[in-house]
Amino acid sequence: MTRTLFANAALKGRDGLVDILVEDGTFKAIGRGAGAGVAVDRTVDLGGRLVTPPYCDPHIHLDYVFTALNPAAANKTGSLFEGIQRWSETKGGLSKEEIKARARQAMKQEILTGVQHIRTHVDVTDPRLTALQAMLELREEVKDTCDLQIIAFPQEGMYAYKGGDELVEEALKMGADLVGAIPHFEFTREDGVKSVRKAFELAVKYDKMVDIHCDETDDDQSRFLEVLAAEAYRTGIAERATASHTCAMHSYNNAYAYKLFRLLGLSRINFISCPTENIHLQGRFDAYPKRRGLTRVKELTEAGMNVCFAQDSMSDPWYPVGSGNLMYVLDAGMHIAQMMSIEELENALDFITVKGARTLNILDRYGVEEGKPANFIVLNAKSGFEAICNRVSVACSVRNGEYLFERAPEVITTDNPLLKG
Ligand code: FE2
Repeated sequence: MTRTLFANAALKGRDGLVDILVEDGTFKAIGRGAGAGVAVDRTVDLGGRLVTPPYCDPHIHLDYVFTALNPAAANKTGSLFEGIQRWSETKGGLSKEEIKARARQAMKQEILTGVQHIRTHVDVTDPRLTALQAMLELREEVKDTCDLQIIAFPQEGMYAYKGGDELVEEALKMGADLVGAIPHFEFTREDGVKSVRKAFELAVKYDKMVDIHCDETDDDQSRFLEVLAAEAYRTGIAERATASHTCAMHSYNNAYAYKLFRLLGLSRINFISCPTENIHLQGRFDAYPKRRGLTRVKELTEAGMNVCFAQDSMSDPWYPVGSGNLMYVLDAGMHIAQMMSIEELENALDFITVKGARTLNILDRYGVEEGKPANFIVLNAKSGFEAICNRVSVACSVRNGEYLFERAPEVITTDNPLLKG
């Protein structure tokens, strides 16, 4: 039996500092004096720093990462649709090993900034399903370090791409965890509706979750979210269903949004917003004033719905930067969504931790709670407010009671009297 005591931790919702006793990879006891009288193998003094569950990135495209520097992939308009076109023109000929190498590097960057749970879309509009094979192998390789959920995502459409729906189904049979779709990219509104219904039909048939790129456009007539929510409500799998992006909601008239919110509340679906990508991609066809293009994060949250943030892209034809550090994504999201009250900032970390975990449907094994796997990170801050205020780094990441990594404190060398001390 192995016991480690992590002493003097700050935990959200707890007054004062607590001690965390980990036994054989599981949280055994949490509270002041939790390890008293127990023989431990090691004691780690956290010095009052904040402990949170690991970061979750519930929406990224690991098969696309680090492809932005290919000149043929350059997106001149900066729009979503040109991104899809550039990807379509350049994706042929990618090998499984090359895709895995890029994806592995991206995962490494995310893990070293505190992530332990990732959901990736994988483009299955490829008759060879090369990227899917790469990701299935990677999921197995990394499982002790990071959870990886895989979405069968028809980037070029279930119906706009010939046989796209069949490729999605094939991907599910091969082991993808979720069904994806992109209704706003289908040729017609009817095809978009059909693709959402097909996604739920496949989810029920194969007992999978659903995560749909939904209304990622400034077109206020793009209303596939209501179809998604209605299907989720009818099929009863709503808490396992997610609407990603929903940018058009930014532009809906308020009378329609009011009606829509009733359905969204009933459906209990999850929402993912990708603030850095969508502030970059949206508003591209506007003169001034330019819309932000972000979904209604603040209003959905205040209505009690589950909204989380994600990275989406790391250097691909849609978004040329993106480091995988969710603290930067969170910082941007809180600004763009105008959620800067002290209370909102104190709770900000929820967008990249527990709300993401709820979307990933892993709450039964996620959280700093007795009896759950001892997965957590330590932030160089004493509170959630201080963490976001200073965009702090992650001091260490622990998985099943063992360190994935520790980061040494920053060392500054200076003779300047103001900067000393
Ligand atoms: Fe995406």
